[in-house]
Amino acid sequence: MDRQLALEIARVTEAGALASASWIGRGDKHGADLAATSAIREMFDTVPINGTVVIGEGEMDEAPMLYIGEQVGNRVGPDVDVAVDPLEGTEVVANGLNNGMSVIAIAERGNLLHAPDMYMQKLAVGPLLAGHVSLDDPIELTLEKSAERLGKSVQELTVMILQRDRHSDIIQVLRNHGVRIKLLEHGDVSGAIVSAIPESGVDLYVGSGGAPEGVLAAAALRCLGGEMQGRLMVESRKQYDRCRKMGISDPSALLRMEDLVGTGDIIFAATGITTSDLLNGVRYLAGQRVETHSVIMRANTGTIRYLRCVHNMSMKLKHASGMH
Ligand code: FBP
Repeated sequence: MDRQLALEIARVTEAGALASASWIGRGDKHGADLAATSAIREMFDTVPINGTVVIGEGEMDEAPMLYIGEQVGNRVGPDVDVAVDPLEGTEVVANGLNNGMSVIAIAERGNLLHAPDMYMQKLAVGPLLAGHVSLDDPIELTLEKSAERLGKSVQELTVMILQRDRHSDIIQVLRNHGVRIKLLEHGDVSGAIVSAIPESGVDLYVGSGGAPEGVLAAAALRCLGGEMQGRLMVESRKQYDRCRKMGISDPSALLRMEDLVGTGDIIFAATGITTSDLLNGVRYLAGQRVETHSVIMRANTGTIRYLRCVHNMSMKLKHASGMH
C-alpha cells in the first residue's frame, strides 16, 4: 500500500468526525451516526483504493451505507479490506461524553477478520508485554506476569476496563489486588489502543466489548507493536452459525494478532469527536474554523503521526457548492 494512502484515510475519518460533531450532546445517536456514516461514505469515493468493507455498519439489508461487502474507493488502487466505524461511541457523542471517534483501518485483501457483531473477550497490551501474557491465564496471573515484566509492583499497574455489570468479577479481583483501574463508560477501541501508548499510563486493557471494535483496535496495536488477544463470546446457535458464515471455522478459538489482522501492511486512522485518552475531540474556534485531532499509523513502518488540523468550514462549504 502506498504511504500516501495514510493521509487520504485520515481525511476520511476527519470528515466523519466533523459531520458527527454537530450532533454532540443532542441526544440523538442515530442522527450522529448517520451524519458520520454519510460523510465517510462520500469521502471514500475520493480515495485511490479498491476496497471491500469487511467490518462496517452491518449487513446489506440492515445498513444503507458501509455495509459488509460494499465496495468503496475510486477503484484505482490496491485491493484492500476496510474496517470502518464512522462513529465509535454513539451514546457518548449523543450525550456529549468522552471517547467518541471516527475510525478506519485498511489492510491488504484477506487480512482482516470478518468479525461478527457480538461480544469478544479482550486483552490488549503494549510492546513491553506483547508475547508475555495470555488471555487463557487467570487475571491474577496476568497481573503478576505484567508487573514482573514491567519491573513494578502489581499495585503500580493501571488497568482499563469498560464499566459494565458483566465485569464486576474482574473489577473485584483488580480491586482486591490494589490495582489502579480506569473505568470506561464507552469506547473500547481507544481504551484498548492506549495500552500501547506509554504516555497514557495504561498498562493493560481487559474485559469484553464488541468484536468488530476488537479488530479495529488490533489494527492499531499492530502498528504500535502492541498485542491484542480475543475470544468471541458465542451465546447462541444463531451467533455460532453467523461466525461460521463469516468464515470463522472455530468460533471458540483464541484469536491472536495474525487471526485478527493478518501479517500484511495496515493503515489505521482515527479522528476524535469527543476527547479520549488517545485524542482530543473536535473544537469549534472563532470564524467558522473547526479543529480536529487525528492519529495515523502504518504497520510496515511503525510510523505514528498525530495530525492537528484547522478546517475553515466557510471555505469548505463554498468549495463543495462549486463557488470558488
Ligand atoms: P457503539 O459505537 O456501537 O455505541 O459502541 C460503543 C461501545 O462502547 C464499544 O466501544 C464497545 O466495544 C461496545 O460499545 C461495548 O458494548 P456494550 O455497551 O454493550 O457493553
